[in-house]
Parts: sequence; structure tokens; C-alpha cells
Amino acid sequence: MKIVTTFAEVRAAHRGTVSLVPTMGFFHEGHLALMRAARERSDTVVVSLFVNPLQFGRGEDLDRYPRDLDRDAALAEAVGVDVLFAPSVEEMYPSEPEIRVTVGRLADYLCGRYRPGHFEGVATVVAKLFAGIQPDVAFFGRKDAQQLAVLRRLAADLSFPVEVKGRPIVREQDGLALSSRNVYLSPTERASALALSRGLARAAKAALDGVRSGAALEALVTNEIDQTAGVDLQYVNLVDADTVQPIEKLDRDSFLAVAAYVGETRLIDNVHFWLRDRLEYQLGERLQSPSVLYERR
Ligand code: PAF
Repeated sequence: MKIVTTFAEVRAAHRGTVSLVPTMGFFHEGHLALMRAARERSDTVVVSLFVNPLQFGRGEDLDRYPRDLDRDAALAEAVGVDVLFAPSVEEMYPSEPEIRVTVGRLADYLCGRYRPGHFEGVATVVAKLFAGIQPDVAFFGRKDAQQLAVLRRLAADLSFPVEVKGRPIVREQDGLALSSRNVYLSPTERASALALSRGLARAAKAALDGVRSGAALEALVTNEIDQTAGVDLQYVNLVDADTVQPIEKLDRDSFLAVAAYVGETRLIDNVHFWLRDRLEYQLGERLQSPSVLYERR
């Protein structure tokens, strides 16, 4: 595996079809699943690792976001990544960017409402990755479901010739959705954090039993969180999977998304619903053993 720091070096390493897995590093099995999917799909697998200052608001965790290039390089190499692109802030933003990607109504709700400018920062850096790396396919996790909807529209609306693929959420053994931010949680906070996935699982089961009211499904998650000490709900909303607008009834492809603070740590999670002949839902996949996030180096 090559570790490179410039777009030119990434392009020089392309052979055949190219998959890109954009990340901010501190890999867990969710990232590794995206890399494996990319490996199956293409000749060259590029992983970008860049903690993007543009997508962090004032007072957010840019400075304390976990970083460990050597650890990440070893994990990426073990799953067969060809190129790890770890640019400096200067390579990515040679000067303060004057031209940025704006995001319309897709950012009106959920995280977009509470993190002003976040999706503009994400869309801008991913547009630069698409333009500078020119992948055929790019892989993103469904935990960031609103981000996935934004990036699908980014590719479509700005005519990037890249296929944007979503992959299932990967969960720890007890159901907590994997996030690099899980390493911030104390043991007590970690136990409280399970309220999010518990609430979503209850809502998914209720939907399967025939509940279609968005308010009723949202209330199941709210109740679970309200009953758990140390968890502050930020939002819970059932939204259309493509437009990310709230819907009153579960009558189309959609997702029920939740964000909450556990101590100082902001966590998000969701369950996806698909309406085919009958309702199907996807909470994601559970690990069989403890995550690499907690391995001591
Ligand atoms: O999901 C992430 O890790 C980031 O938002 C992304 C897509 C790499 C852009 O910085």
C-alpha cells in the first residue's frame, strides 16, 4: 500500500477501475467494511484520510478528533487498500476556499438544522476528492444517512461521473453504532448510549407490526431516551430517504434518524425502511467481537 499526500500522486497510482472511500480516519469496522466493498468492486482502492476543518462548527470537536495515521495505515493495508491519501490542510486548501458547494433543502432538517455549514463543508471536500481523484465509485456508510443523501445529489447535480454507494451501519456487539467518537465515552456513558439503538430497534419492530405514524415511531425512540439517565435528545425524525424532508407516514423509502448528546459526545444513529411488496428495515450488522476501536496500541 502506498501512503501519499498529493492528488497528483493518487492519480499516478490508478490502475483500471478506481473506488474511493472518503474518511476522517481513526478506522473502525464500519470503515473497513467500506474498504472491503471497494476492494471487491474495483482494481484500485483509494482511501482518503482527512479531518476536514470546513465541516466542523465553532465549539465542535475538530481539535480533539482522534487521529493515528500509523494505526490507520496498518488497518487499511490489512484489508487490501492500494493507496492511502492523507493530505495536509495546505494540500486540500492551498488558500481559504472562496468557492464552496452550497446544499439546499437537504440540509434543512436533522443534523443540517443543528450544525449550520456542516454539509456545505462535507460537500465541498467531497467535491474536491471527486475532482482530484476521479473515482468510478465512492462508498459511504448509512450511519451518516443525511450525508449520503447530500452526496448522491452532489454527484448528480454537479455531474461528477461517479457512482455513490451506501453500505449498512456496522454496530458493536451490544448494538451501539460504530463511530470513531465512541472512544470519547466513559463506561457509564457507553452504557447510556445504547438508548439510541434500543429506541430505533423498538420503532423498527413496531413498524413491522404495522405502525405507520411518524409521530408514533418517533415517540418510541424519545421514550427510550427519556428513560435513560445521561442522554439528551437533540432530534428524532422520520424523513424521506432522498429529500430528507420529514414525513408524517411511513409510506415510502425513508429513515428514522436520531441525534443525542451523551455527556459531551454527540452521537447519531438511524434505521432505514424500504417499502417493496412489504415493509423491510435495516438496522445494520453487529460485530461478533469487540471493535478494533478499543485495541490498545
Ligand atoms: O463521513 C465522513 O467521515 C466525512 O464526513 C467525509 C465524508 C469523509 C467528508 O469529510
